[in-house]
Amino acid sequence: MNNQEKPWGGRFTAPTNVFVEAFTASVSFDNRLAEYDIQGSIAHAQMLAKVGVLTETEAAQIIQGLQAIQEEINQGQFTWSLALEDVHMNIETRLVQKIGLVGKKLHTGRSRNDQVATDIRLYLRHEIDVIQIELTRLITALVTVAEAEAETIMPGFTHLQNAQPITLGHHLLAWCEMLLRDRNRLQEGRQRVNSLPLGAAALAGTSYPLDRHYTAQLLDFDTVAENSLDAVSDRDFAIEFTATAAILMMHLSRFSEELVLWSSAQFNFIELSDAFCTGSSIMPQKKNPDVPELVRGKTGRVYGHLLSLLTLMKSQPLAYNKDNQEDKEPLFDTIDTVTGCLRVYAEMIPTIQFNREVMYQAAKRGFTTATDLADYLVRKGVPFREAHEIVGKTVRYCIDAGKDLEEVSLEVFQRFSPLITEEVYAILTLEGAVVARQHFGGTAPAQVRAAIQRVRSRLEFGIEN
Ligand code: ARG
Repeated sequence: MNNQEKPWGGRFTAPTNVFVEAFTASVSFDNRLAEYDIQGSIAHAQMLAKVGVLTETEAAQIIQGLQAIQEEINQGQFTWSLALEDVHMNIETRLVQKIGLVGKKLHTGRSRNDQVATDIRLYLRHEIDVIQIELTRLITALVTVAEAEAETIMPGFTHLQNAQPITLGHHLLAWCEMLLRDRNRLQEGRQRVNSLPLGAAALAGTSYPLDRHYTAQLLDFDTVAENSLDAVSDRDFAIEFTATAAILMMHLSRFSEELVLWSSAQFNFIELSDAFCTGSSIMPQKKNPDVPELVRGKTGRVYGHLLSLLTLMKSQPLAYNKDNQEDKEPLFDTIDTVTGCLRVYAEMIPTIQFNREVMYQAAKRGFTTATDLADYLVRKGVPFREAHEIVGKTVRYCIDAGKDLEEVSLEVFQRFSPLITEEVYAILTLEGAVVARQHFGGTAPAQVRAAIQRVRSRLEFGIEN
């Protein structure tokens, strides 16, 4: 394409270097903004008509043309041209082809700088809403499993060593809490995404009597960007979203790591459904936990995108710089990655089988009720540090004798402390240990059930701020 035919061709005489044309173009990836570009343009045209910069007829022609272009895109009939650089100029050029000269009036009082900033915000706002739906589905799936497993006993770990018995429901609710915080973070960030840049034009605003608040109303933006220089240049809203996504992925990676461990022969706590695993091309017996592994692995790219965006924005002088064209691919891939991970997890969670008996037996190993024995002595008047010492010695005895705590005879117990009586055996059961943790936020089944009710009403109530 000759430069004269390009929307900015007027001051150019020589054609663009062929490699530079490909190098500077963004249409191959920013065409995903088309729908939002058209929405933004329709609102802009309506506003221009309202303030009398366009006639109603002109605006109607432009809007019809844009709608027809949207239809062409939907039908896969739109031809994207690299020579037209980006989504904005592709659509505008097509508009002029379709409706003639009046199409050239659309760009009045606007620049691609405020246009692209508006498109990204509209797009990201939509994607945040999609992510929230997926995230809510995942949390709901987890809560359902937590309810079914409210009484299931498993070992709780610190340092990945058996520590104290807990209920599986309680463990699953820990994941829910992390994800609920991510949900809140996303929603808080959405407020800052939902501000209208349009009207900032290239950087300084325009000499037309624009009604930016009207445009904001048409596009459902909560606020209008206060400063035109800031509006076209900062991408902090995208960085903030990506930071939130990175935290969310960090949570999913922890979750994934546990699923990978738990599905190993060594743990054997869970069985992942065949539908979410694959085999090995050489080892016929293998069933690999690919989905959790991939989610864990994909966390890395989202961290990478966060760093890319921060570095992209760093030290940029005001206002718009072409650097910012590089904001799209990291943002798009973050959205795709997070959405995909949430979707696959929401599908997979209900299919996990928990090996309750294996978890129970595992919880019995490692003297997990030792703290309960110490607490028992404390209730009999022994200072905690002393009780700790007594139980430590008892555990040492058990290790040497190859016994569990509940296998120690009363006579032997009394050698360690004469205060121990028959009732100690009830304290030493796993059931006794979990039921004893009967307070807000504790692992007792009754507390887990109460917590599940609270999570459900928080989910229903909507987003907490
Ligand atoms: N494709 C550009 C971007 O993504 C659109 C804005 C271009 N503005 C400009 N002055 N060249 O940032």
